[in-house]
Amino acid sequence: MRYASNLTLAVSSALFAVAVLVACGRSDESGSAASTFTDPPATDAMRLGALRKAALANGFVRASELAVPVVPARHDVGRLIFASPIMSLNGRISCQDCHLDQFGSADGLPNAIGVGGEGAGAARLHSGGRILPRNVLPFWGRGSRGFDTFFWDGRVQKVDGRVVSQFGVHAPSTDPMIVAAHLPSVEVREMVTDTPQIRDGLMSEDVGAAASIQSTLASRFAADPAIGPKLAAAYGLPRDRVSFREVTDALASFIRFNFRIRPTRFERFVHDGGSLSRREMAGGVLFYGRGRCAACHGGPYFSDMKFHSVAFPQAGFGKNGFGVDEGRYNTTLNPKDRFLFRTPPLYNVAKTAPYSHSGSVVRLEDAIVAHFDPLRLVDTREMTVRERSDLYARLGTASRETLPSALTDEEVRQLAAFLRTLSF
Ligand code: HEC
Ligand code: HEC
Repeated sequence: MRYASNLTLAVSSALFAVAVLVACGRSDESGSAASTFTDPPATDAMRLGALRKAALANGFVRASELAVPVVPARHDVGRLIFASPIMSLNGRISCQDCHLDQFGSADGLPNAIGVGGEGAGAARLHSGGRILPRNVLPFWGRGSRGFDTFFWDGRVQKVDGRVVSQFGVHAPSTDPMIVAAHLPSVEVREMVTDTPQIRDGLMSEDVGAAASIQSTLASRFAADPAIGPKLAAAYGLPRDRVSFREVTDALASFIRFNFRIRPTRFERFVHDGGSLSRREMAGGVLFYGRGRCAACHGGPYFSDMKFHSVAFPQAGFGKNGFGVDEGRYNTTLNPKDRFLFRTPPLYNVAKTAPYSHSGSVVRLEDAIVAHFDPLRLVDTREMTVRERSDLYARLGTASRETLPSALTDEEVRQLAAFLRTLSF
């Protein structure tokens, strides 16, 4: 017991240090790039043309081609549900507590803080909430056209027209976005307090236990004076017939609509003759060329929606405990999937620090460095033998990937400048 609480303390102060760095980075960013460095517009017509072609050849499309239409009454009530603590059994935590506008729909923390947490950003770390051993994922483009692989380990995924998830044959929907929206409310420590009784019910993979929590939540939403009538009307149902199906459909509609991809500077460059600076252009040319980024970060969302290994430092307990996260292996139990994670989509990536599945890296530039020089980001002498042995294993899997080879610091800055053109 004593051991556990000391460990918790150590982990949360390490995570606190990263969160403070993120907060500092954010105030820095506002002034720096523009004022201290002049980056003239790119004029090299041949390279600009080659970059446009490479983007199109790698699946880049206009934002408007990705949108999936949603019913306004449904995303309107979905917005209320998203912000409502009714979504948790203890009535204290909402989806919005971890997916915040000010952090690009993530939370600005390395690992998420679930039930028991209060406040936003670094303040949340010392509020006594339970640590969730993964970095919060942002929502940009989730559930839009072709975006149907969810979570760092792809534990909800559409494969050959079927949704594969922990629900097995009982998947509550054929829409993976709706299935993904079913999970947080029954995830122990995320939105459910970790008591032995709840843990036994939910951990035994008993679909009945999850369904019974969710039907309780649905009746609460139906009874809520601000939400119930709107929810029933949006689906043409009497209030007492509203089920968790409608609750999650409304949530999914809200996420699809509110976090849809908007036109970026890069879209204006590729499709409307807009300009890029020299550094941004050089970064784009590297991204699609020698940097090999598009091999994994290709397609309309800058992700192949497949699973790969990059030896990022690991922060916090890790999904598998003792600072280890075996990634995709947790979902498939196939040893080949050990340490693989879904390639992160890159829209708005400049707004969603810290980076990687455990939020271990604060600066965008360092997230790029992690791909080709991961040892630069860790002090191996400060690590325990166990941490180093985990690192060796991850370096082994990463060495089998086609990752970029050594890039200079200036090239890394160019790539980061290019990634900033994907913000909106
Ligand atoms: C305690 C913090 C927390 C709360 C509350 C929370 N989330 Fe999340 N969310 C996370 C974390 C952490 C991840 C990444 C987890 C992973 O991939 O293992 C995530 C990932 C997701 C994803 C997957 C995104 C992607 O890129 O695949 C969806 C969808 C999502 N959350 C929806 C919701 C909804 C809907 C709610 C409310 C019902 C909610 N979340 C509440 C922390 C939270
Ligand atoms: C072999 C596939 C692969 C290649 C090539 C690749 N990446 Fe990644 N990238 C990943 C994976 C997988 C992750 C997440 C790893 C993790 O969290 O453990 C990632 C993470 C990132 C992140 C952090 C995103 C976030 O939200 O946490 C950035 C930024 C990034 N990559 C940019 C690049 C750039 C720029 C290049 C080219 C220099 C590149 N990547 C090349 C697979 C790849």
